[in-house]
Amino acid sequence: MKVLRLKTNRIVNPMGFLLGRPRLSWTVEEAKGTKQDWARIIVCADAEMKQVLFDSGEDKEASSIAYPLNLELSPRTRYYWQVTVRDDRGETAVSDIAWFETGKMHEPFLGKWIKPQLQKDICPLMRKTFTLPAAPVRARAYFTGLGIYELYINGQKAGDELLAPGCDGYDKWLQYQTYDVTESLRAGENEITAILGNGWARGRFGFDGQAGCFETGERGAPIDVFTSEYLLLGDLVVETAQETVTVGTDMSWQAAPSPITFSSIYDGERQDATVAPEWTGTALADASQLGALTERLSLPVKKMQEFKPKLIITPKNELVLDVGQVISGFMTFRCKLEKGTEVRLSYGELLQEDCFYRDNMRSALCEFRYISCGEEAFVRPISTFYGFRYVKLEGFTGQVMPEDFTAWAIYSDLETTGNIVTANEKVNRLFQNCLWSQRDNFVDVPTDCPQRDERMGWTGDAQAFCSTANFNMDCLAFYTKYGRDMYLDQCQREGAAPHVTPVMVKTAGSWAVGDGAVGWADAATIVPWMTYLFSGDKAILEAQFDSMKDWADWVHRQDETHGGDGLWLETTMHFGDWLALDGAKSGFDPEAVIGGTDNTFLCSAYYYYSNVLVSKAAAVLGKEELAAEYKKRSEKTLKAIRREFYTPGGRCAAATQTGQAFSLHFDLAPQEFRGKILKQLQRLLRDNDMHLKTGFLGTPILCRALSDNGAGEDAYTLFLQEDLPSWLYEVNMGATTIWERWNSVLPDGKISGIGMNSMNHYAYGAVMEWVYRNVCGINPLEEAPGFRQFALKPQPDRRLGSAKATVNTASGLIESGWIYEGDSVSYSFQVPFNTTAQLTLAAEGLKNGCINGQKLIFKEGYASLVLSAGDYSVD
Ligand code: BGC
Repeated sequence: MKVLRLKTNRIVNPMGFLLGRPRLSWTVEEAKGTKQDWARIIVCADAEMKQVLFDSGEDKEASSIAYPLNLELSPRTRYYWQVTVRDDRGETAVSDIAWFETGKMHEPFLGKWIKPQLQKDICPLMRKTFTLPAAPVRARAYFTGLGIYELYINGQKAGDELLAPGCDGYDKWLQYQTYDVTESLRAGENEITAILGNGWARGRFGFDGQAGCFETGERGAPIDVFTSEYLLLGDLVVETAQETVTVGTDMSWQAAPSPITFSSIYDGERQDATVAPEWTGTALADASQLGALTERLSLPVKKMQEFKPKLIITPKNELVLDVGQVISGFMTFRCKLEKGTEVRLSYGELLQEDCFYRDNMRSALCEFRYISCGEEAFVRPISTFYGFRYVKLEGFTGQVMPEDFTAWAIYSDLETTGNIVTANEKVNRLFQNCLWSQRDNFVDVPTDCPQRDERMGWTGDAQAFCSTANFNMDCLAFYTKYGRDMYLDQCQREGAAPHVTPVMVKTAGSWAVGDGAVGWADAATIVPWMTYLFSGDKAILEAQFDSMKDWADWVHRQDETHGGDGLWLETTMHFGDWLALDGAKSGFDPEAVIGGTDNTFLCSAYYYYSNVLVSKAAAVLGKEELAAEYKKRSEKTLKAIRREFYTPGGRCAAATQTGQAFSLHFDLAPQEFRGKILKQLQRLLRDNDMHLKTGFLGTPILCRALSDNGAGEDAYTLFLQEDLPSWLYEVNMGATTIWERWNSVLPDGKISGIGMNSMNHYAYGAVMEWVYRNVCGINPLEEAPGFRQFALKPQPDRRLGSAKATVNTASGLIESGWIYEGDSVSYSFQVPFNTTAQLTLAAEGLKNGCINGQKLIFKEGYASLVLSAGDYSVD
C-alpha cells in the first residue's frame, strides 16, 4: 500500500502561493483493502517531523480529495506534512513528507517600487550589490516586476520559471513570486540582478494593432495596454545563523540597458550581446495604477519538454529547423559567431509548398534576433514565446549544426492525468494533438491560440474545452487563477463576464474588451462548476460563487429590461456557434465565421444552464435560499424556451445540428419530443453525408448528444470520418495540434485563408470529452465529485477495435478499456481505492457475460453493478 501524490491546493510543494486555508490531498495505490478506515495527517515545523503543529488523529472522515487544514499559518514559513492511511483490512501506510511554504502573507514589503533612470523604452537591468556577514541558512527572494522579469543571484537564475510575474490585468491584480535562493548566496559580497522585458504589461496586446519594428525598436501600435514603466519590487530575506538580513528594492539599486533591445510578446525579441552595461541610477516609482499585490496563484510556466529539431533545406534554399511538433516556447542555441554578426530566427506553424511560411500570424512578427559579441554563447529569448513547429534560420555563418539547437515546449506546470489509446492510430494521434493544444494554450492563461496576435484568455474557447482539459490534467490550480482574473474583470463590468480574461487591452470598442457574449461569458459559471466536478474541491466554488452569480444576474437584468419573460434575447453582438459551417455565408466565403444557429436560442439555453449551475453551486455551499431562487429562474427560462422554440408537434425551431444537440444535451426539449428531435438530428447528419456542421458551441456536445440518446453508432460514424469536415481529416493532413477551423488547410495542402486561421486552437479537441465519457465510459458524478463515486458505462464500437482511457483522478487511477476479438468484446476496469464505480454494461457482444469469472445479471440487455476498488475484467 502506498500513499502518493501529496498536494496542497493541488500543487506539489507550493512555495509562496496564496493558499487561503490549505487543502491537502493524496491518493492511495496498491492497497489490499478497498476503503479508507482512517487517515491521520501530521503537520510539523521541521523536515524531521519532530515539532508537531497539527495532528488530526485517526480521522475516519478525512477526505483525501481536499482535507481542509485547520491551522493558523505564519508568514514565510515552511510546513511539512505527512499522511498515514489505514485501510479496511487493517493495513497502514505512511506517505513521504510533503511541504508547503507561505509567502509574506500580511507582512509588508520593505522594498519600494523602483524604476530605472533610463529612457522609457530601454529594457533594463537593475542590480544591487550587498555584503552578507555569513553564508545563509535560508534565503528567499520575494519579487515581482513589470512587464516580464527574471532574477539572478550572483549570475545564477532564481528558480526555473519563465515569463514571471505571469499574465494578469495588472491594474486589478499583480502576483509576486517566491524563490529559494539559499544556494546562490555566500558570505561576503553578493549581487542581485533583474532583467526586464515588455511582456503583457508594456508591449502591444490585442489584435487591433500593427507590428513593432526591430530596426527602430518601436513597440508597435496601439500602445494602449497597461503602459507602465519598467517596475521592480522585492525583498530578499536572508537568514544566517546569527541574524536576518533583508535587502529590499530602493534607490540604492542601479540600472543599465540590458542586451534586450526589442521585446514583444507578439513580435519577438532582439538581443545585442555587444551592449556593455553602463550603470546609472534608479528612482522610486509611482505604483498607484497597480492593482492589489498578492502571493501568486499562477502555476509556474517552465520548460516542460525538449525537442531536437531536424534541419531541412527548402526549395527556396531556406535553412529551416523542423521540431516535428507544434509547440509553444522557443528555440535555444549554442553559437560562436564573429562579433557583430546578427542572426535571425523566424517562427512558423506550417510549411507551404515545402517552404517556410508565417502569413497566418497576421501582425505578429514572431522573430528572434541576436547580435554576437564574438564569444561562445548559449542563447534563448527571455521575454517572449512563440507558437511554432518550424524555425527559419538566417545570418548563421559556417555550417549550421542542428545539434546546436534545442526546441523547448513551455507551459504551466500541471500534472497530466489523462491518456487515451485505441486500436486506431489516427485517433491516438488526434488525442495527442488535443493534449498538445492544451499544453500549448496553457501558458499561464487558457488562451485561444499561442502564436498570432491574440494569445488571449478567450472565455468561449476555455468554456468549450474545460471538461476535456480537466480529464487531461489536474486543472484546479490553473482555473482557480483564471477564475480570479474573471471575477476582477466582472467587477468592472457590473457582473458581465468578458470575451477575454484577463482584460489587458484598453481600446474602447475592441473585441478584446467586450463582454456579455453567449457561450463565452458563461465560462464564469461553467469553468468553476466543471472544475469542482472533476476535482471534488469546493474551494473553487467558494472562490467563484460571486462571479457565477454576478454573471447570471447580469443576464437576468437583460431579460428584465427586455420584457422579463425568461428569455435572453439577442440584442447585442454574439459570436454564437462560432465557425460552424451552416451560417449564411458558409460555402460562399472560406473565411466565414458566423454559424446558423439562432442566437436567441443559444442565449436562452446558456441563460438556463448558467442559472442551473449557480443553483447547484449554491446548494453545494449550503446557500439553500439562493439555490431555490436560481432554480426557480432556470425553470422559468426553460418554460420560456419551450414556448418559444418547440412547436406543438415537437420540432426545434433552431433547426441546425447544434440546435438539436442542445435540445438533447441540455434537456431543453420536453421529454415527449426527444425521440423526434434525435431523428431530426440524424436526418440533418444524413443529409450532410454524415458530416458535422457545428462550431465552437455545438461541437463539444454533438457526439455526446448522440451517444447519450441511443445513437452511439452515428457518433462513431462522425468521429471516424476522415474527409472534410472531420477530426481525422486534420490528422490525415499531418496536424500535430488541433486546428482552429475544420478547413484550416485544404486537401491540396494550401492554407484556406489568413484572416483568422491558426493550427493550434483547442476548442474542437473537446470531442475528447466524448471519448473519455462515452467511448470509454468514465463519468464524474455530481453527488460525489472528484470521482469518489463515478459512473462507468463504456459504449464500444467494432469500427474502433479497442479503446482504453486512464485518468489519474483526484481519487486515484481509473482505467476503463475494451477490445473486440472476433465478434465479441471484453472489458477491463480499474477502480481506485476508497471509491465506488456504478457500472452499466450492455450484454451485446459479450462472450460469457462474466465479471472476474462471476456471472453478471442482465436486465433489459444491461447489467448494472456497483464496483468497489479493484481490477475487473468482463468477457
Ligand atoms: C479567437 C477565438 C475567439 C474568437 C471570438 C478569435 O479571434 O481566436 O478563438 O473565441 O475570436 O469569437
